[in-house]
Formats: sequence, structure tokens, C-alpha cells
Amino acid sequence: MLVYLNGEFVPHAEARVSVDDRGFLLADGVYEVIRVYRGRPFLMPEHLCRLAGGLLALEIRYDGIQELQDAAIRLIQENGLDGDATIYLQITRGAAPRTHAFPPEGTPPTVYAAARPFQPQPETYFEDGVACITTPDTRWARCDIKSIALLPNVLANQKAKASGAFEAIFVRDGIALEGSHSNLFAVFEGTIVTYPRNNYILPGITRERALRIASEQGIPAREEPIPLDRLYEADELFLSGTTTEIMPVTSVDGRPIGDGRPGPVTRRILDAYRAAT
Ligand code: PDD
Repeated sequence: MLVYLNGEFVPHAEARVSVDDRGFLLADGVYEVIRVYRGRPFLMPEHLCRLAGGLLALEIRYDGIQELQDAAIRLIQENGLDGDATIYLQITRGAAPRTHAFPPEGTPPTVYAAARPFQPQPETYFEDGVACITTPDTRWARCDIKSIALLPNVLANQKAKASGAFEAIFVRDGIALEGSHSNLFAVFEGTIVTYPRNNYILPGITRERALRIASEQGIPAREEPIPLDRLYEADELFLSGTTTEIMPVTSVDGRPIGDGRPGPVTRRILDAYRAAT
């Protein structure tokens, strides 16, 4: 498998990053995951735009987004990925002797891209729904940046997996925000509700698409906080994400949601999302 590292295409086994890389030492970088359907990237400009925004927020100077897009497309072709796949992009502040403050001006960022086959979520998950747990949100207050510092997300998702659940939902000050690697939607009496875009959630590309689908389908939608006690009382719940797609949630913390089956509004969003992909 070929990967792209700092301007070159190299075999995966030969790709090397410095032990001084600030991604390795300090999680000083940003990333993106892009889904590929039938060999074609889905919503790539949106992902690249968010990546550029993250770089700007972290003041990592990199002017090669266009080149990175071309590299990602070449990786799909060169690796013969004509079915389901994902593209992973990561940019760190580069390699330099460890300091907290930024490295010397001119330190080149480390730029990495890989494309690999992707095994979609099992169809039964979409048909029957999945279980979630809730967990305190121990993340920082800039969850809108797609930072590679994912330790709270790792621990939360592991907690979900260990209890047989698909996803862990972060709760901060009594508000259900999003999953460890997905955004969260509830349906109350036919209206879709999701936490508003601010610094406490990632502005998901799939979340945005789900809201657009709702608007196109005439399904009312509101962006407002969902208290945890309200979450348990939702008629329907679903998650959205690049690898999660639109995933019905049928239980939270062991409590059934609605009638314990994926609901009709979720189904409509899922069907329209699939049509788009
Ligand atoms: N995760 N919230 C968090 C915390 C996420 O990590 C993700 C994506 C999302 C959904 O965003 P999008 O729809 O743009 O994929 C929401 C990626 C897929 C990951 O870490 O693998």
C-alpha cells in the first residue's frame, strides 16, 4: 500500500516520521477522515475546508491543501480502491526539539495521507439500531477543532465497547453533546433536535448533511441543547458520522428509546443519505 508523506508517495512499510514530531510528542496537529464510495471521495471539499479551518485555528502554516487533495485521489487510484474506502489526512506542526511554544519559524509541518479499504458497519446495525452509553465529557473546550489529541474519545469509546455498546455519548453539565466519534440527533414529535454548532462539539460534515436532508424533506429541525433526562425520552435517536453514516440508536444506558426500534424519521434521513452517497 502506498501512502503520501511530506510530498512523496512511499510504501506504507517504509514511511517514517521523526520521534521529534510534535504530533507524536504533543498531539500538536489536526486530521480528517473522508469516506470513499465506489472509488469516489464523498464530501471531500467540505472535509478539506474544515481541515483548513483547524490549521488556521492552531496557526499551523500549510498552503498545500490542493496538493493534498490531488495526493489523496492518486492514493485511491494507485492502491486500486474502487469500492468502500477511507482517506485519512493528518497534518502536525512538524519535527523540532520539544518545547511547548511553537518551533522555530519555517519548521515544515508533517503532512500524511493514507487511503485504505473500509468495512462498512454491519447492515443489522442500521436495521435494528445500536446501543449507546453516556459518559462525562472530560475533553477540552475546543472540541470544534478536529485535533489528533483524542485520549478522552479513546477512553470513552473503549468504555462503550467494553459494555457492548456502539458509541459513548459525552455529557457536559447535564447536556448530551455528541458521541466519541459521531454527532447526536434526537427526534421529538417529528422534530429533529441536535446540539448547536459551538466549541463543545465537532461541526460534523455528516451532521450538516443530515440537517440539509431534513430541510429538503420538510422535516422540522432545531439546533438546541438536549438535557440528558430529555434524551432518554426522545421518540428516536440517531448518530451521524463519516464512518458511522446515519445510525439509529435504540437504547441509551440500557433504557429503550421510543419503542426500542429505529424510527421513521431516522429511516428517512438514512435513506436520503444513502441516496446521496
Ligand atoms: N470522527 N464528533 C466527533 C468527536 C468525531 O470525531 C466525528 C468524526 C464526528 C462526526 O464528524 P463527521 O461527520 O465530519 O465525520 C463528530 C471521525 C470519523 C474519526 O475520528 O474517525
